Amino acid sequence: MPQPAARAREIAPAKGKLGVLLVGLGAVSTTFIAGVENVRRGRALPIGSLTQMSTIRLGRRPEKRAPKIKDFAPLAGLQDLVFTAWDPIPDDAYTAAKKAGVLEPHHLEPVADFLKAITPLPAAFDQYYVKRLHGTNVKRGKNKRELAEQLREDIRGFKKTAGCDRLVMVWCASTEVFITPGPAHQSLAAFEKAMEQNDPAIAPSMLYAWAALMEGVPFANGAPNLTVDVPALEKLAEERHLPIGGKDFKTGQTMMKTVLSPAFKARMLGVAGWYSTNILGNRDGEVLDDPESFKTKEESKLGVLEYILQPEMYPELYGNVFHKVRINYYPPRGDNKEGWDNIDIFGWLGYPMQIKVDFLCRDSILAAPLVLDLALLFDLAHRAGLSGIQEWLSFYFKSPQVATGLYPEHDLFIQHTKLKNTLRWMMGEEQITHLGIEYYEKV
Ligand SMILES: NC(=O)c1ccc[n+]([C@@H]2O[C@H](COP(=O)([O-])OP(=O)(O)OC[C@H]3O[C@@H](n4cnc5c(N)ncnc54)[C@H](O)[C@@H]3O)[C@@H](O)[C@H]2O)c1
Repeated sequence: MPQPAARAREIAPAKGKLGVLLVGLGAVSTTFIAGVENVRRGRALPIGSLTQMSTIRLGRRPEKRAPKIKDFAPLAGLQDLVFTAWDPIPDDAYTAAKKAGVLEPHHLEPVADFLKAITPLPAAFDQYYVKRLHGTNVKRGKNKRELAEQLREDIRGFKKTAGCDRLVMVWCASTEVFITPGPAHQSLAAFEKAMEQNDPAIAPSMLYAWAALMEGVPFANGAPNLTVDVPALEKLAEERHLPIGGKDFKTGQTMMKTVLSPAFKARMLGVAGWYSTNILGNRDGEVLDDPESFKTKEESKLGVLEYILQPEMYPELYGNVFHKVRINYYPPRGDNKEGWDNIDIFGWLGYPMQIKVDFLCRDSILAAPLVLDLALLFDLAHRAGLSGIQEWLSFYFKSPQVATGLYPEHDLFIQHTKLKNTLRWMMGEEQITHLGIEYYEKV
């Protein structure tokens, strides 16, 4: 039965400039910035971006209402985006993009001046958290609180000089070492004290998240670090009515995993084992070659099968899945990752079968449109008065942040429906349930 349309939420208009604060000016950030500038100049298409390319069906099928999301929801326009970044490596966006080797000259040279003008601010960086990097463009201070206060000054300074109306921050920096939530993360008071005492439980990414929230800026985390996924920062976000979310952009192999495993489960096919391995030669691959950073990534990659397959509900099918994930640093491939999956499944009466996936992907080409969508949708969420964890944006993350006591939803198509239904709900349109019986029966 079609439900009556809800009332649209009040959403402040997207007027003026939206400043995108990028932590890290490496492969993903530069591919994102250069891509947006190419699109703005009409030189390329924003392929992979749901906000720019996708339509959204509204109402019943015969109504044939399917505007583009960007024409339906009041998103900031690409022409209104301005960028800044922090990085411990002092290269400007052009030099960093050249070194990353993702984009070809015909996408870099025409926007070279634009990219050269984006130079990274000194980073709040500590090699303890990213062992394979040596940064020179770093902030100095007597403790972590002081570094975080300097980040706040940077945010205020950029907002003023760039003439921004609003800001969003997206973590596109390296994966930090594995940290589990501890006492320092439980309340804002404990967190701030820990910053003052240089507690190792406070990673640089947390300083950026805290600074963003203190300055009224939504924060999205594109890496698997703990960062904003702790009670202290969740509470701060709620108190200040700011959207937060993470973790870890869902791009290559995990995206495939969250597409394939729901299909096996839908057909009640068993899974005996899933072996995933990657070769990757960019700086991210080098950082992930450190076992402590890899541990953070591994946790994020391993979780998805467990939640999708629900072994506790289907012990005969998924009670004994052997799941392995490997990332191997292999410089010749650069950003062009190759991800192999060998999947051992079984069917009727237990007969075994195998599936092999060989995804020759481009890491940053897959990640850049996600940065764009997250910047635009976090800004929309903020203007729509949504605060705290934005579960409806799980679509973008390998390890979606959710409220305590909830399990994350990993199935890409459930996430996709959730995202679009949230946009419909925000705009006062009916939810689409896909029931469809009303087309056949008079109800
Ligand atoms: N590309 C993908 O498909 C993908 C998918 C999921 C997650 N990610 C994550 O996105 C992040 C960026 O990936 P990338 O390929 O651009 O990596 P990259 O190594 O090219 O860039 C990361 C940049 O972050 C900088 N950095 C490190 N610590 C910092 C700090 N404390 N403050 C500011 N800058 C800091 C580094 O100097 C580097 O320039 C990584 O954590 C990666 O794991 C990428």
